[in-house]
Amino acid sequence: MDESITITDNRTGETAEIPLLDGTVSAKAWSNLLPGIWFDDPSFSATSGADSDITYLDGAQGLLRYRGYPIEQLAETTSFLEVAHLLVRGHLPDGPQLKQWQSEIGEAAPIHENFHKRILEGFRDDAHAMGVLVSTIAAMSTFWPESKDVENPEQRQAEIVRLIAKMPTVAASAYRRNVGLPYVFPDPELDYTSNFLSMMFKTGDSPYVVDPVLHDAMDMLFVLHADHEQNCSTTTARVVGSAHADPYVTISSAAAALYGPRHGGANEAVLRMLENIGNHRNVDDFITGVKAGDQKLMGFGHRVYKNYDPRARIVKDAAHRVFEVTGTNPLLDIALKLEEVALNDSYFIDRSLYPNVDFYSGLIYQSMGFPVEMFTVLFAIGRTPGWLAHWDEMLSQNSRIARPRQRYTGPADRDVPSIDVR
Ligand code: CMC
Repeated sequence: MDESITITDNRTGETAEIPLLDGTVSAKAWSNLLPGIWFDDPSFSATSGADSDITYLDGAQGLLRYRGYPIEQLAETTSFLEVAHLLVRGHLPDGPQLKQWQSEIGEAAPIHENFHKRILEGFRDDAHAMGVLVSTIAAMSTFWPESKDVENPEQRQAEIVRLIAKMPTVAASAYRRNVGLPYVFPDPELDYTSNFLSMMFKTGDSPYVVDPVLHDAMDMLFVLHADHEQNCSTTTARVVGSAHADPYVTISSAAAALYGPRHGGANEAVLRMLENIGNHRNVDDFITGVKAGDQKLMGFGHRVYKNYDPRARIVKDAAHRVFEVTGTNPLLDIALKLEEVALNDSYFIDRSLYPNVDFYSGLIYQSMGFPVEMFTVLFAIGRTPGWLAHWDEMLSQNSRIARPRQRYTGPADRDVPSIDVR
């Protein structure tokens, strides 16, 4: 045994040596010695829920790698579809593989007409885009019943293509319905991100011409969001998928987790926070309120990063490039002042609170013309290959159904009283 720990049950004096593997101890070895004694870890802060080849994250050092490649290099040199291929197929595509992958995704991008007519039209006019996205991904489960064959790796790959391909179509259609614009059908001649921007913003019959700087920023933001190992939504996908639910309801449940403001919903919450602060002169008062516990500084803090989120640094640089095209975002001054004040304040220093990926991304999205309600949808499009890669990996490992234990804290055994004495 190379590295191990020894534990002693002080009730019996029994000891056991448990091997350490990559910083983890096997719960099985633990349970053999201490059956019926569970780890009390409600937010899974100290629990490894997966063996995964996909993403490496070192929160103390601020490192993030997809299948070994540093996020900085991927963001600078590869397109989102190349990264999606890396995540779900395990390797970066060569030239012919990329061409094939682009055409598979392009062909699968259209959605069923009933989807537009019956499903999207059924929502209220002011329906939040994330509510629409979560419901419509789940509804797709009814279009492809063969997707339930989740133990078949080829079927899984077919559904992976469909989901990556259709997410932008669904997202853009949800937006166009809300603003009362006609749907734009996907154009297989366009690359993934141009096609999405065209489906979002095209008006009239002439082709939508996308600015290359804005295109590259959008594509890179998708890359930065593509995976983040066992975050709340990915863990949700693995848990729901472990019940052998089909991929549509599985990805819908992941998107539902992402919607929360502590997770992907933070990009929307940051923008609303900046708008509420209103002026950089109000930042000190706002920070005083944060320290008093009145509210959180949205876009700051992370369960795993105790250092600057490497994605936030890249997003901040990209924001400056985007603003050269769109003109500066008036909220930028407030964001910069917030960051400066927080990074020099002992409250944030002592708790290792740094900007995360959501702090600056919303400013870019807003400057590109996306309404605030679409921000988390953009995160979801980017994260889809990551969710699917984990879903496929978990099923290929023949994982057991996720089923944690609990510490019961309710009443002891008691008799049901009759209704007149309750
Ligand atoms: N503003 C002010 N105080 C904070 C913040 C914040 N954004 N985040 C954490 N803290 C405080 C927290 O109150 C606690 O203080 P104390 O020790 O006095 O009780 C301390 O820092 C430790 O925080 P925690 O609650 O143990 O952190 P957590 O790991 O449970 O939560 C988090 C992580 C991301 C939910 C939290 O930092 C947060 O709510 N941040 C704002 C929302 C946000 O930006 N979310 C996006 C995360 S990155 C994108 C993604 O991957 O989802």
